[in-house]
Amino acid sequence: MSVLMQGDTTRLRVWDLPTRLFHWSLVASFAAAFITAESEKLRDIHVIAGYTLAGLITFRLLWGFVGGAYSRFAEFLPTPGTVIGYLKSLLKGNPQHHVGHNPAGAVAIFLLLGFGIAATVSGWAVYEDTGGRLMEELHEGASNGMMAIVLIHIAGVIVSSWLHRENLVLAMITGWKKARRDRVSV
Ligand code: HEM
Repeated sequence: MSVLMQGDTTRLRVWDLPTRLFHWSLVASFAAAFITAESEKLRDIHVIAGYTLAGLITFRLLWGFVGGAYSRFAEFLPTPGTVIGYLKSLLKGNPQHHVGHNPAGAVAIFLLLGFGIAATVSGWAVYEDTGGRLMEELHEGASNGMMAIVLIHIAGVIVSSWLHRENLVLAMITGWKKARRDRVSV
């Protein structure tokens, strides 16, 4: 991990390039799949976006074991204890600061990946005409579940950026996070 000290602030290399490319490609392919979901005319684009999502999620599942330090699942695997501890710190008005994903954000990430797997596998089954009504219901439910978590995820990113006075979106673009030295536990 790279650390750059500048006065009272520290710059940390948090998100590696593959994680950032994964993230923004996931955003683009999810948006494309969602927008084209109801259109017969745009069905090919919907299917291509779905296969892209499936490929990206497969990559991320592997990267969670061999990727950069902050991208590994072992680094941010949430437990009931860490999630409750984090939520309590929010309620007390003294939120814990995490350099990588915070425990509540980590829950959203695992839910996104889980819904993503369910949506793409059931989408493939619907496209191949197997599984009938059950797969159709699963496909719609998983896709809507993913959208609900995406909205919570975006709200969480905004609130967390505000609480910690750090630009998390910029960090997901550049890979670097700037944080006050006394608030960083590396
Ligand atoms: C424009 C909307 C979005 C913004 C601004 C955004 C921003 C971010 C940021 C800042 C992080 C890092 C959070 C942290 O510091 O802990 C993150 C992580 C993540 N986001 Fe988003 N996000 C957006 C949309 C989405 C969508 C649509 C999806 C899924 C379809 C998604 C899936 C993820 C995942 C899976 C991660 C974890 C990254 C990893 O460790 O691989 N995001 N997002």
